[in-house]
Amino acid sequence: MSEPASSVVPHHVAIVMDGNGRWATRRFLPRIAGHKQGLDSLTRCIKACLARGIGVLTVFAFSSENWNRPPEEVSGLMELLALSLAREVPSLKANGVQLHFIGDRQRLSVKVQAGLTQAELSTAGNQRLVFNVCFNYGGRWDIAQAAQKLAGRGETITELSLDRAMALAHVPDPDLLIRTGGELRISNFLLWQAAYSELHFSDRLWPDFDEAALDEAIAVFRTRERRFGQTSAQLSGQPAPSTPKAA
Ligand code: FPP
Repeated sequence: MSEPASSVVPHHVAIVMDGNGRWATRRFLPRIAGHKQGLDSLTRCIKACLARGIGVLTVFAFSSENWNRPPEEVSGLMELLALSLAREVPSLKANGVQLHFIGDRQRLSVKVQAGLTQAELSTAGNQRLVFNVCFNYGGRWDIAQAAQKLAGRGETITELSLDRAMALAHVPDPDLLIRTGGELRISNFLLWQAAYSELHFSDRLWPDFDEAALDEAIAVFRTRERRFGQTSAQLSGQPAPSTPKAA
């Protein structure tokens, strides 16, 4: 028996965690204080996803374009990445979270690269929640690297082969894509994978995005009819209005 629509939890939730800088500026704090608060908000969000049986969480932590921010903010975010590895990985490991870092690692320090690999290896056997952290990531980068991989192997480029060469090939496409902070755009996040994701824009700044805000996003998701190109009538098993009745 299929689950009633009202209790469906999105399997894969993706989030653009926007608004850390404004959260800090409104409190006369340096922007990095907002990112630190954002990391706490992320930790709470992971717990909330675990409690709700969400299978995959993918977050945008640092975009390919974020290198253009002031140098002290960029180095602050690199430090936060190193801190999060030391501070969060043991608890993620204990809670059944499988970690993946998605993005171009070449520009990160050798030490951080080793830390990312170690964190992935130590959580590889976990099954409760797949947690993808997009860091030095861009949707265009992902499509280009996938195409390059196929070209290098002499493979034909098809939708299926590209899909399998993408950095998120280990998970199904996101069901629900949330952006906090009030902006109405996807900013080079999951350009390929979000083709049929339901979009939810929240005015909350990311540090203020709590369990209730997540539940609201899930409630809105439950009201959406996911047609994937079909008609409503097809989904409900009824003949389309133009279909002639059988004699
Ligand atoms: C966008 O807000 C947020 C980021 C660029 C960084 C997101 C990082 C975290 C939530 C911390 C977790 C980090 C790691 C390393 C796992 P913004 O700064 O653009 O906010 P604004 O629009 O208010 O300026």
